Amino acid sequence: MNNRAFHIPLNRRLLLRSLLLATGGVITSGVYAEALTLTPRQTEGPYYPDHLPLDQDNDLTMILGGQAPAGGVVTSFGGRLLDADGKPLSGSLIELWQADQNGCYIHSRGAPQGRERDPAFQGYGKITTNEKGEYRFRTIKPGLYTGRTRHFHIAVVKEGKRMLTTQLYLAGEPQNEKDGILRSIRDEMKRLSVIREFKPASGEGGDLTATWDIVIGRTPEDPEPPRRKGTGGPPPRP
Ligand SMILES: [Fe+2]
Repeated sequence: MNNRAFHIPLNRRLLLRSLLLATGGVITSGVYAEALTLTPRQTEGPYYPDHLPLDQDNDLTMILGGQAPAGGVVTSFGGRLLDADGKPLSGSLIELWQADQNGCYIHSRGAPQGRERDPAFQGYGKITTNEKGEYRFRTIKPGLYTGRTRHFHIAVVKEGKRMLTTQLYLAGEPQNEKDGILRSIRDEMKRLSVIREFKPASGEGGDLTATWDIVIGRTPEDPEPPRRKGTGGPPPRP
């Protein structure tokens, strides 16, 4: 591929971003909308919980009534849910599900062979965005399992409709380079929009933290094509 041609769209977007900075954001709404990168869709994967836990809050490191915290590096992230024009969206549901430190999900088939699920890890959580469109999760750094880099699964539900299914990644993970699902996002700006640098949180004992804004379009996403019988996928979501 011609490298020069490949980089033109990216440069154009960077130019739009610098225009926004230079004008303090005073720029026509059409251009502004183009400057906001819609968060790309990623597959739901096979491990959306088939039995939701009783505790579904946004702190996955502790289960209500549990004695011990989950194992692993405490990791938090949050930001705003925005529409393509940059308007914060309040009252929408953000769901998170992910592997525990052993690479296991809370799913009846979510433990790779020879691995045991951490019973202290909630595995799934959700939060409704506040009036500023903000959300936040406290969880652990996702464990690794065969064939994938570390990742969080995220879904956004607005007015009862699944608007977006995606995944969030940690910058600097060596497996990012060969992760087929992450690499399937061909557009560089879009791919970078789901990779975040998690930094040590000040004063919190070396925990990791990141900021991640999620940008959704106006229409609910199309449902994923049903999985073929016998491939171990979950029953369709209601
Ligand atoms: Fe996964």
